[in-house]
Amino acid sequence: MADLEQKTKQGASRRDFLRGSGFAAATAVITGPAIASLDEAKAAEPEFKIVSDTTTLKLKVNGVDRTCEIEPRCTLLDTLRNRLDVTGPKRVCDRASCGACTVILDGDLVYSCTTLAISCGGKKVETVESFDSGVNSVPHAFVQNDGLMCGYCTPGFVTACKVMLDHNPNPTIDEVRKGVDGNICRCGTYVGVLQAALAAAKTMKGA
Ligand code: FES
Ligand code: FES
Repeated sequence: MADLEQKTKQGASRRDFLRGSGFAAATAVITGPAIASLDEAKAAEPEFKIVSDTTTLKLKVNGVDRTCEIEPRCTLLDTLRNRLDVTGPKRVCDRASCGACTVILDGDLVYSCTTLAISCGGKKVETVESFDSGVNSVPHAFVQNDGLMCGYCTPGFVTACKVMLDHNPNPTIDEVRKGVDGNICRCGTYVGVLQAALAAAKTMKGA
């Protein structure tokens, strides 16, 4: 170590010299064609906007334009339930594994508990509150076929079934299973859920 700190004739220590040569080497590496590549990469970078504090979110929920102030960290589930008073989607696992928070975002099923609200600006959100609940509807079929017990998972199952039937009005039981495979029922009402989906398919055809 003492040797390292020993001054050279020019008055610089060997440590300084090593630092200096490291810098010189790094400089050599980023000169020439590499600088041109860096400039190109920089030009191709997307523009990032840093959002801090709160920001205004505008989105369409169940056909109605809604606006609220959110923090960038807010999930869609928190925003719906706590800011917009849309409480159909439920918080159960809060980690994208049970499906109780399922909503339809621009036509696709998403777990709202792990979707950042800020990414939903200008998009269309549909929740169970907006579904038809008449005698030919999915919610009605759940009631008629004992598709629920405690009901916590039910909004998510109903939402998944509705989207599945919108895409496939004549599902087999295996297709129904696949359509709701992102949802879990801790009460174990799977038989009722499958029956409800098949019954809804039947009544919706006759409607
Ligand atoms: S609460 Fe979102 S998946 Fe369970
Ligand atoms: S009805 Fe209770 S969790 Fe599904």
